Amino acid sequence: MNSTLSDVKIINLPKILDSRGNLSFIEEDDHIHFKIKRAYWIYDVPGGENRCGHAFKEQQELIVALSGSFDVLVDDGKEKQIFSLNRSYYGLFISVGLWREMQNFSTNSLALVLSSTHFDENDYIRDYQEFLEYRKRNEK
Ligand code: TYD
Repeated sequence: MNSTLSDVKIINLPKILDSRGNLSFIEEDDHIHFKIKRAYWIYDVPGGENRCGHAFKEQQELIVALSGSFDVLVDDGKEKQIFSLNRSYYGLFISVGLWREMQNFSTNSLALVLSSTHFDENDYIRDYQEFLEYRKRNEK
């Protein structure tokens, strides 16, 4: 069955405030409800560039702006919503089968992505029309 925008959530991560500097963390089963198979990060994005522009059939993920800020546009084929990530204690959970684009990266921004799957090019839907058809096939 298809996920929708209501399955996309901003998770408030713990924040331990300290005069020596703050600390946040993510624990499986508590803040993230999938087994973490892979972590990757996106950095040194030139001004004006966008990333992603695809959906995944299996991969769920949690995105954190470890540094700087950027927007994540999420699209379920009917509605779109933009989530602005600008604090390192917010995680954006994106469920399967949703189109996403990352935009408006600030200078020196660093995006951490925790993924439920190993890398598999076959899990990507990179064509928007194909994404809409995939959604239609999976409609209940
Ligand atoms: P891609 O996910 O297409 O990045 P974006 O959607 O932001 O443009 O990945 C870019 C390239 O990196 C692509 O050739 C696949 C490769 N890649 C890996 O080899 N392993 C990974 O874990 C990821 C995320 C990408």
